[in-house]
Amino acid sequence: MKRRFIGALLGVVIIVLAVHNVPLASYLSRVERDRLTTALERDAFILAGHAKESLNSSAGVALPSLQPALDEFSKTSAALVVVTDAIGLVVSSNDSAVEIGETYANRPEVGMALTGVPATGQRASQTLGQTLVYVAVPVQSGDRVIGAVRLSYPKSFVDKRVQRQRWGILLVGAISLLMATIAAVLFANTLTRPLRRLTTATEKLSAGDMQSRASDAQGPPEIRELARSFNVMAGRLSAILQSQRSFAGDVSHQLRTPLTALRLRLEQAQAIAGSESEELREALDASRHETDRLQSMIEQLLALARLEGGDAPTVDADAALVAYDRALMWQPLAEEKNITISVAADSLSRCRVVDGGLEQMIDNFVDNALSVSPSGSTIEITVRHKGVQVEIDVCDSGPGLTPEQCVVAFQRFWRSASTQNEGGSGLGLAIVQQLATASGGSAALLPRKDHVGLCARVTLLSAHEST
Ligand SMILES: Nc1ncnc2c1ncn2[C@@H]1O[C@H](COP(=O)(O)OP(=O)(O)O)[C@@H](O)[C@H]1O
Ligand SMILES: [Mg+2]
Repeated sequence: MKRRFIGALLGVVIIVLAVHNVPLASYLSRVERDRLTTALERDAFILAGHAKESLNSSAGVALPSLQPALDEFSKTSAALVVVTDAIGLVVSSNDSAVEIGETYANRPEVGMALTGVPATGQRASQTLGQTLVYVAVPVQSGDRVIGAVRLSYPKSFVDKRVQRQRWGILLVGAISLLMATIAAVLFANTLTRPLRRLTTATEKLSAGDMQSRASDAQGPPEIRELARSFNVMAGRLSAILQSQRSFAGDVSHQLRTPLTALRLRLEQAQAIAGSESEELREALDASRHETDRLQSMIEQLLALARLEGGDAPTVDADAALVAYDRALMWQPLAEEKNITISVAADSLSRCRVVDGGLEQMIDNFVDNALSVSPSGSTIEITVRHKGVQVEIDVCDSGPGLTPEQCVVAFQRFWRSASTQNEGGSGLGLAIVQQLATASGGSAALLPRKDHVGLCARVTLLSAHEST
């Protein structure tokens, strides 16, 4: 936008300069030509005055008295002077190429001056081989024409003078253009800088930084107004989001108490039912199982609401140590299902992570892997230190997921068709993603290349790099 703005402004300046300077240049050229001709005419008459005395007294013979006047004239003018007598023979000249006594009567302008009529104009000169600009005036004594004075320039001399004027105009145009460029850049900056700041603020907000605000202290009033409106909007948005989050948190929190009460009542009912009715016991067992599921779901929702509230502090954690610790914790349940859990970890695998988050992420991954792993298989936990990152993989030999499912599995409450009927909330992976993001990392599900199954991966920043 800035470049287009500068381009448009310069375009206008160039058009204005062209419209203004082209006629100006041709006008000034005309004025310069006229000025030179007028000066020639004036000089011709002055020299004619000098020549009158010489020609009068000498009656056609060149007198030395005219030569000093011509020499003096040559010091201040580049014009070539030829003075002739009444029949057109040269009596004096400041041009060394002209011979005294040579006839100039055949030059039209001299011929005309000798008839008493001054001549001004230009013509091709055979002697010079180029165009000549001339003024020829008669030298008169009373009514009698006693000679002629011709002043001339080669046309190229006049053209050079005119050209110099044109260069002058071009230089002024170039300076104007340069100044216009500087002004355009400065003006564009004052316009685009606050706009760019506003864009940055908008991008930050859309990336989830609800504290992002635009500065409304600088720039043109319209943009300051826009920044103020943006800030009001961002403020409202953040308030709405905050109240929604706290609502989700509050609801989860409020549900905890009646749910605990319900669980107690169910336990009491089970105790009362005792062994009386097998059917009743089974029904109460199932109810308790569902209540447990509901309870864990609410706990997870609360955890999510807390994470989305933002600003969870991060700490340094030894990923290898956490991996071994969690494997040990899950060992009894794995053994029950005849599944082996193996850990392979790089040393030096310290990473930045939300406090307690790595344990939760590995637990969620192992929990999922255990629920899909066939009996006799192995769940492999790998910790790798890769440059600035630490990768933690939990790989199983279960049925795996399609690449599309690997993406949607992170959405809240998503569960594949085959796991719909089992316990679980569909919130585990959503929590993993929140934890990974809050830690400055990421989470992904990857189909295994070597054989069937899935690898759940969390990538975190190495502690050495992030400090
Ligand atoms: N290792 C895995 N292999 C196959 N499917 C998986 C795996 N991990 C997760 N899934 C699928 O992703 C869904 C969502 O997982 P999750 O968010 O942890 O919720 P939950 O475990 O409560 O169902 C699971 O229900 C399952 O269908
Ligand atoms: Mg899960």
